[in-house]
Amino acid sequence: MSDEAVREQYEAYPYPVRAPADEAKRLITGSPSHIDELNHYVFGGRRDFAKPFRALVAGGGTGDAAIMLAQQLANAGCPAEVIYVDTSEASRAVAEARARVRGLDNIRFEHLSLLDLPASGLEPFDYIDCCGVLHHLEDPEQGLQALVRVLADGGGMGLMLYGELGRTGVYPMQEMMRTLAADAPAASRLEMARRVLKQLPATNWLRRNPFLADHMAQGDAGLYDLFLHARDRAYRVPEIARMTASAGLRIATFIEPAFYDPASYLTDPKLLARLEHQPWIERCAFAELLAGNIRKHVFYVVKERNPVRLPDPGKPEVVPILRDLDGAAFAKGFMPGAALTANIDGINFRRPLPPLTGAILPQIDGQCSLAEIYRKIGSTKRVVARETFRAEFAALFSALNGLGKMYLRCPDGAKN
Ligand SMILES: C[S@@+](CC[C@H](N)C(=O)[O-])C[C@H]1O[C@@H](n2cnc3c(N)ncnc32)[C@H](O)[C@@H]1O
Repeated sequence: MSDEAVREQYEAYPYPVRAPADEAKRLITGSPSHIDELNHYVFGGRRDFAKPFRALVAGGGTGDAAIMLAQQLANAGCPAEVIYVDTSEASRAVAEARARVRGLDNIRFEHLSLLDLPASGLEPFDYIDCCGVLHHLEDPEQGLQALVRVLADGGGMGLMLYGELGRTGVYPMQEMMRTLAADAPAASRLEMARRVLKQLPATNWLRRNPFLADHMAQGDAGLYDLFLHARDRAYRVPEIARMTASAGLRIATFIEPAFYDPASYLTDPKLLARLEHQPWIERCAFAELLAGNIRKHVFYVVKERNPVRLPDPGKPEVVPILRDLDGAAFAKGFMPGAALTANIDGINFRRPLPPLTGAILPQIDGQCSLAEIYRKIGSTKRVVARETFRAEFAALFSALNGLGKMYLRCPDGAKN
């Protein structure tokens, strides 16, 4: 299949399906490219969004990442420019209409293949989002290298590539569709796909994989993207590690970190002891094999020689930030010994929380440093030893950050 077939598909079926008018009601947020998340993983929490910021959304589609980034940067008062590029005019029209509804004027829309970025004169970029695009290229490594060439040395990228195991059932279905209707017009291919879906035997892997709902819920475009795609492939962790290393990149994290930690799934101490000394990437690969449900690998990368490190939750200067969590409300219901629990894609995550959780969470406002939070707790509650606070905050951070609920910011001058 050719680049032209991919382009035609996204002209006919922009994906994901979005109605611009919905922008008046809600902002779609996600990963990668939430600004607190990317600051933590790409900039070590040190990016000052009061300064100019140039972001690229490569293969921006119907606009989710460009709109989220542009809105969050505008909210932060950042003098930012978000450059959106895509080869589909129909997708760009949706993204542009969404920006208009929001009154965003910090996005520049370009009709361009990401492969042509190095010669475009648009670089350099502090940050690049490329979500669900590289796996549709004929040569995804060439695509990644094109992005590296326009990335500033101190910048980074948020990427998403399909996960092979979590998409179990998709590729046999794509193969069946090629047998049934490779050359048929789109409408009859969709009709064939619907007919097959109604007749899947109970043993079919697609029927046994209930976690593909986000595509299935999106009508024709979703079905087309999943089962009739002109070209897509999926990855496992070791292939991602090889591909990024050969592009001169280093993986800062997979999202969410807990999904890629064998300790999220295992309790057997003998197994955990064996895994403890494995390199981090081996542990991630093991967790992927074990969980079997990762459909999308979302991950952040920086250039190999970029010395940036993740913010240290042991430093008093760092400022914790909560994401999608009302700290005060959570603290109210918190009982000592309780855990953070979440059921994500069929797995029950349970992260034990330290006793000081109820005291710390209400103090997190995205402005106060750990040192200030410690002082506030001391003035309102019983006296807590500094070491106890430090250890309990580290445990709280590990639990919440593992599930994408807490990041850290390092204000200027912090010695992380
Ligand atoms: C599945 S959509 C993902 C859109 C968006 N990144 C998101 O996450 O919602 C893939 C997009 O990649 C675009 N695309 C495919 N090949 C491209 C290329 N070579 N250069 C730029 N965009 C491309 C398609 O037109 C399509 O809009």
